[in-house]
Amino acid sequence: MAKFYTTTAIDYVNGAPHIGHAYEKILTDVIYRHFTQRCEDTYFLTGTDEHGIKIQKTSVEKGISPKDFCDINAQKFKDAWKTLDIGYSQFIRTTDEQHEKVVQKIFKKLVDKGDIYKHSYKGLYCSGCEAFLNEKDLTEDGLCPDHLKKPEVVEEENYFFKLTKYKDAIIKHIKTHPDFIVPAFRANEVLNQLENIEDISVSRVNSNVSWGIPVLGDDSQVIYVWIDALSNYITAIGYDPEGSDGKFEKLWPADVQVIGKDILKFHSIYWPAILMALDLPLPKHILAHGWITIDEAKMSKSLGNVISPTAVLEAFNLDIPDPFRYYMASAAPCGKDGNYSDEDFKEKVNAHLANSMGNLLNRTLSMLVKYFDGDIKQEFLGKNELKEKALETVKAVKHHFDYFEVQEASQKIMELVDFVNKYVTDNAPWTLAKEGKTERCGEVLTNVLQVMTVVASLIYPYCPNIASAMAEQLGYDIKTKLDDITCETLISGHLIDKENIKPVFLRMDSELADKKK
Ligand code: ME8
Ligand code: MG
Repeated sequence: MAKFYTTTAIDYVNGAPHIGHAYEKILTDVIYRHFTQRCEDTYFLTGTDEHGIKIQKTSVEKGISPKDFCDINAQKFKDAWKTLDIGYSQFIRTTDEQHEKVVQKIFKKLVDKGDIYKHSYKGLYCSGCEAFLNEKDLTEDGLCPDHLKKPEVVEEENYFFKLTKYKDAIIKHIKTHPDFIVPAFRANEVLNQLENIEDISVSRVNSNVSWGIPVLGDDSQVIYVWIDALSNYITAIGYDPEGSDGKFEKLWPADVQVIGKDILKFHSIYWPAILMALDLPLPKHILAHGWITIDEAKMSKSLGNVISPTAVLEAFNLDIPDPFRYYMASAAPCGKDGNYSDEDFKEKVNAHLANSMGNLLNRTLSMLVKYFDGDIKQEFLGKNELKEKALETVKAVKHHFDYFEVQEASQKIMELVDFVNKYVTDNAPWTLAKEGKTERCGEVLTNVLQVMTVVASLIYPYCPNIASAMAEQLGYDIKTKLDDITCETLISGHLIDKENIKPVFLRMDSELADKKK
């Protein structure tokens, strides 16, 4: 695979990031980091969605300009992603000048082509959804089912995008590309929605919505929501209808675009239609992840259970995000909903990262130092009974990532760790040492350490800091590409530095972790 381009949804900057936003960015970062272990050219785009009536209203309430309001909140997202070690290549804001300019050109191109036309329209508008609703979607009392608010009757002359023109082509694309929508079980849902689509309004009258990108040559209208927001995926990397730069040519089409299931319709219907209208190829995969609940309840301001991801790190006094990343990335099977709870978080990362993985490395390294001064001797190297299982795991993990099965891949890694733990128990190197079976003892320890280099590589996308610490103690290069893994990294003369050996991750309730509080 030569290049890999991945994106996340761009978050509304109405407030601070919560665990749901974090889930998506972590999931994407894990996928991205995995593919950096397989491809030469990788690119990861994330950012913020900053226009629209909600931002306009909230900033007025706060008595600041919408741009200042966006600046403050966009920074909160950037700060959170830094704390979580989200290794994005670029952070786009829809208020970036370059983005705004290219969106205007995109809009103009579609007008010139006849795919955008002006049309007088009367509809039921919900400002919560930032969308027009159909009468049949309302509750019995005529309320928006999501926001339980009465939509306003809006009569405007707007620009419309000819979505219906692309209906058949999109249906055909979905049917002939069964891996376009991931997981595949969501494709039917999209095909059903396609049955009832209509052309969509893509602008608003400036007097109703002013916080948006003006339509070129028509000051009375601003470009509304989807053409602005969706275009970020191409404007960010240098798309220009009048001639794109080399970066765009190299990266587009995206390899996987990660979004939540609530915005799948926009990404698997509107977005492909816009791309088709621009004569651009469609992304290879749209990954729709599930919803994260807190203690099995929907996160909401009114329930007061909205959790900030950085607050979790603070509450557990964590100085690295790895445990939280690991927990979130394995919170749900591909595309399914997941849950966060403090108890479960603590239990799972203690069991997996501290007990199973960290402890295995720590005691093996300690034994090698105790019995052999950390020296891997020539006579310890030979057939490694664990090699086959280790290489099989690399293959399985790659296979899961080919389908963006991030949780499933993490389970394979932990299976390997469990397998090796059992090997240590079964072979009892401490007994071998006591009985004077020195060479066999050295072999067993070396076999385990060879596999731990593989484990470090595999866990890296989830736990970059822990993986680096593991690799450092092993004297292993964490940058090794997955295809180059042999499970024969440690060679004779390789010396484990005893000064370096320390637990890579402490149980969250251990004495030491408590002391730090
Ligand atoms: O939809 N669990 O922004 P947004 C999992 N600006 N994912 C969640 C979640 C939860 N509880 N809550 C939100 C938007 N998300 C638009 C996107 S893209 C061109 C424009 C996910 O801030 C949600 O599914 O409401 C979406 O993918 C992302 O967070 C941003 O949501
Ligand atoms: Mg949303």
